[in-house]
Amino acid sequence: MAKTKTSFFCQSCGANSPKWLGKCPSCGEWNTYVEEVVSKSSASDKEIWQSGDLVRNAPKKIQEVVFDERHRLQTGTTELDRTLGGGIVPGSLVLIGGEPGIGKSTLLLQMAIRMKQSKVLYASGEESLEQIRMRAQRIGIEAEDCFLLAETSLSAILTHAKELKPDLLIIDSIQTLHTESIEASVGSISQVRECTGKLMKYAKQTNTPVFLIGHVNKDGAIAGPKVLEHMVDTVLQFEGDRHLSYRILRTSKNRFGSTSEIGIYEMRETGLREVTNPSEVLISPRDGYLSGVGIGATLEGNRPLLIETQALVSPATYGTPQRSTTGFDVKRLNMLLAVLEKRLGVRLSAQDIFLNLAGGLKVNDPALDLAICASVYSSFEDVPIPSSICFAAEVGLGGEIRAVNRIESRISEAAKLGFDQIYLSGYNVKGLDLSKFDITIKSFTRLAEAFSDLFS
Ligand code: TYD
Ligand code: MG
Repeated sequence: MAKTKTSFFCQSCGANSPKWLGKCPSCGEWNTYVEEVVSKSSASDKEIWQSGDLVRNAPKKIQEVVFDERHRLQTGTTELDRTLGGGIVPGSLVLIGGEPGIGKSTLLLQMAIRMKQSKVLYASGEESLEQIRMRAQRIGIEAEDCFLLAETSLSAILTHAKELKPDLLIIDSIQTLHTESIEASVGSISQVRECTGKLMKYAKQTNTPVFLIGHVNKDGAIAGPKVLEHMVDTVLQFEGDRHLSYRILRTSKNRFGSTSEIGIYEMRETGLREVTNPSEVLISPRDGYLSGVGIGATLEGNRPLLIETQALVSPATYGTPQRSTTGFDVKRLNMLLAVLEKRLGVRLSAQDIFLNLAGGLKVNDPALDLAICASVYSSFEDVPIPSSICFAAEVGLGGEIRAVNRIESRISEAAKLGFDQIYLSGYNVKGLDLSKFDITIKSFTRLAEAFSDLFS
């Protein structure tokens, strides 16, 4: 009988200490230490899958190691394939995090039932088989080789996986799993870490890719120790506003591809639909006279995206004027308002100002600054901005218009969508071959100049 030993673990960052602590010295969180049992696992409780076909590792010359890009498993959805860097790498461990109800289970179930050529095992500790089947019914079942398992014991899941030999294993979610080899409670840091470690061994030894769904804590980080993110090969974040339909799948870590790829989805009655031309859905058709709308050319990952910024400026009736934003940093808006006030003399201090980015997306790209300044001013003066104009420039504290990165892809996207004019920083057009774009480029170095051109 192994001697039981306990230790205190911070539930936020995974640091441990032999004594209880009020404040975690490692992450600074309060009241996060919980006592957990750490019994040394004895040699006898080796996992079943380990004992049989344990692959002996031997050093290999680097030239002898072959990897063929074609070995990547295609998920059947282009957005997900692209986000992963071109498909799923065999033996990789992928963690998908996101707020409850954002659509993580839907995304992975949809992937499972779309992978017609592959055998997939979807193990859920959260829902019953009937519930999963019901969800699959909504999405539309296509695959014949998709197996479901409602189970929370990791060793049971691995035993089944060993028998079934799936091409892909999906775990929904890592926080519901438990392994008998340690005594800590389900969802605790040590359980999560131990289970992830075992799944990683399974993935590497059998060369089966494993997807883990992970819950996020109140700060939006994946619940569980940071080490979880170090252990896995790829970390994806599924984000968006739960009440609006657009979702973004972002890579925050990828050992096998770039982290600047994103996937955009729309949550429908019948599951998630890929959005292949996001700019078209993010700009609402405008008829006639509407002030306070400016289109900005932003970048999400590698993808240029035209997004509608809407401002409403109206006199504040009482108290402190309100400043409220959806999808944009309110501090940055306040800064832009101060620039308008100070450098252009626009009297905004007694006005309520609301700013929305269309589609529920969160953007913190400074290239939207000019579009936002223009839409605020447009609403304030009640003069609409022509719908054929878009913007891509940062605004500095001195009221100067600054250059932004990857300007060519922003201009191309605007031209592709049929805009006639794009307003840029004068510093951005230096060395740029303007003739290759099918759009009029107007460049300015001061906000005042841009406004006098736009609103005169
Ligand atoms: P879910 O995948 O259960 O979220 P998570 O696993 O991240 O907690 O998705 C839940 C939401 O998605 C739920 O509010 C219902 C909605 N939904 C649709 O709108 N259409 C659908 O086809 C499905 C399956 C879910
Ligand atoms: Mg779920």
